[in-house]
Amino acid sequence: MRTLTGITPSGTLHIGNYFGAMRPAIDAQTRGDCFYFIADYHSMTTVTDPVERRKNTLGIALDWLACGLDPKTSVFWRQSDVPEVCELMWMLGTLTPMGLMERAHSYKDKTAKGISPNFGLFAYPVLMAADILLYDTHRVPVGRDQKQHVEMTRDMAIKFNEAYGETLVVPESEIRDEVAVIPGLDGQKMSKSYGNTIEIFGDEKALRKKIMGIMMDSRTPAEPKPDADQNLAIQLLKFFATPEVVLDYENRLRAGGLGYGDLKKALFEHYWNYFAVARARRAELAANLDHVEAVLRDGAQRARAVAEQVISRARKASGLR
Ligand code: ADP
Ligand code: TRP
Repeated sequence: MRTLTGITPSGTLHIGNYFGAMRPAIDAQTRGDCFYFIADYHSMTTVTDPVERRKNTLGIALDWLACGLDPKTSVFWRQSDVPEVCELMWMLGTLTPMGLMERAHSYKDKTAKGISPNFGLFAYPVLMAADILLYDTHRVPVGRDQKQHVEMTRDMAIKFNEAYGETLVVPESEIRDEVAVIPGLDGQKMSKSYGNTIEIFGDEKALRKKIMGIMMDSRTPAEPKPDADQNLAIQLLKFFATPEVVLDYENRLRAGGLGYGDLKKALFEHYWNYFAVARARRAELAANLDHVEAVLRDGAQRARAVAEQVISRARKASGLR
């Protein structure tokens, strides 16, 4: 059973990404055969600055390795190091009805938000299908927003197999519904598009300021707060502290006497300590970029060994040389 997922290098990762996507992916390594890649071709639909792309790609590589992605167990590579994916994209595109593409939500959502669309943005589900099908993937863990793309991938694999004979593995999505939606600094879903994020890694002072800036109501510290479990800082604290510690803060809020400032200070300390080991590892990796580059190249080689077999099967089946 092969698990594969891609991470678009489009910005700095936040704790919503960590608990929603990275943690489950890192835990899945114990099941073996995990393929994780940095989707730098995908970033081209929205980022057109090469310096920014390089910086984001390296940043994401450091983040994942620091957080526990083990490049010995998992295959970890940069999408563009295996350009065969573009060839498979072409093959799949020629079998994909326009109607299927026009129904893709992500394209409709993005154009509705005023992003001026390019062909790449429209074609992106076909590249994503090629990402998945090029590696004989069985399982694709994604957030709910990506479910339709995996459905489209299945359609494309089935169409290919109907046209050219059994060639591609038809994958299943694994939707992470059980993962809570991590709230942002304003209580909405944490997302880089809402500007309400707490980054996994970053400047201590700036992050402290962000957390201390969480808006609370105007009740005085002495006032009892029977709704303590609804408090945003308490909800966030649950990700970083033991249930006993959370309960203790909750009880102190409920009883009255604990100020919001002290609560937010505690939240910051727990958050900061939670990532202490990963932060140290990230600094080590950042001081040894040759090693990181070597990890990605080795990953690309291992990914390519699989990709070459699949692309050669697809070429043969479809009557190319
Ligand atoms: P963003 O909303 O910041 O742009 P992405 O859409 O790039 O984040 O999400 C990357 C991954 O992180 C997805 O798998 C998504 O489900 C997960 N994720 C993002 N935000 C959250 C959140 N607030 N809670 C849980 N998971 C999240
Ligand atoms: N489109 C995904 C996202 O925006 C990233 C991605 C690219 C991906 N290719 C993939 C995810 C293949 C899973 C499988 O989050």
